[in-house]
Amino acid sequence: MSQHDDKRRRLLGRLSRQFAYTAPVLALVAGGAVLQATADDTSTEAGFAAVTEATLLLASNHAAAEGEAEGEAEAEGEAEGEAEGEAEGEAEGEAEGEAEGEAEGEAEGEAEGEAEGEAEAQSSAAVQRPDDYTPGYSETDANPQELLARGEELYYDTSLSTNGLSCASCHGSDGQDEGYKATFEQPFPHRVAMASDQFGMPEVHADEMVQVCMVAPMEAEPLEWEGEALQSLSAYMVEVQRRFAGAPHDL
Ligand code: HEC
Repeated sequence: MSQHDDKRRRLLGRLSRQFAYTAPVLALVAGGAVLQATADDTSTEAGFAAVTEATLLLASNHAAAEGEAEGEAEAEGEAEGEAEGEAEGEAEGEAEGEAEGEAEGEAEGEAEGEAEGEAEAQSSAAVQRPDDYTPGYSETDANPQELLARGEELYYDTSLSTNGLSCASCHGSDGQDEGYKATFEQPFPHRVAMASDQFGMPEVHADEMVQVCMVAPMEAEPLEWEGEALQSLSAYMVEVQRRFAGAPHDL
């Protein structure tokens, strides 16, 4: 489709350039019908291209007709009539062709747009708390130190991802707290742009956000929901959130 569009754009560009320098000549030689057609049909690109081509054709036919008619003054009327007739016929044909081309282009564009939209909004099934799930960490109270220590360890662990990254690759080492937006100043659950844009989740808990980063930037499988890794990483991120917001924390 891009090839098709490119071709069409080039054609249109060429035609409008031609039209620009043909116009003054046309103003001298063209009949009222052509000017009328030009004024009526320039509202769309297709119309513009078709009419431009038609006017060019007409101009050359007209010139030829005039050339022929020079010798026989009486024949001029007839010659002009024929030239106009042909040019108008061409104009209709071209206009239909172009219009169809454009309709196809739009249809394709929409279809692609939809497909992309769907691809972007992945299913939240893998990253959303399952129904029968009981979190093993707290978003409101202090978490056990050993859970935090294990979480911090995993935060630097590149083996969690399939692309060589660890959480620290993007979010910084030693409390740098990089890559977060202002939403991170709010305690969990809260809205996070990436979770909302890519998974359609209006709000996320810390564990859901860890899963989102596991699946999206870390390009890995989500962690086991009640497993030690997810629980400790989530507990650690709750403390990181408190640090980020300037609140008292246990790190
Ligand atoms: C390739 C970069 C990258 C990696 C690796 C990564 N993240 Fe993220 N993370 C992001 C981006 C981008 C955001 C989204 C910021 C936003 O949309 O507000 C984010 C957001 C978050 C948030 C939410 C911040 C908020 O506002 O609540 C948490 C928590 C988080 N990541 C934890 C992790 C953890 C834990 C890991 C490792 C398992 C990890 N991230 C790995 C890029 C990354």
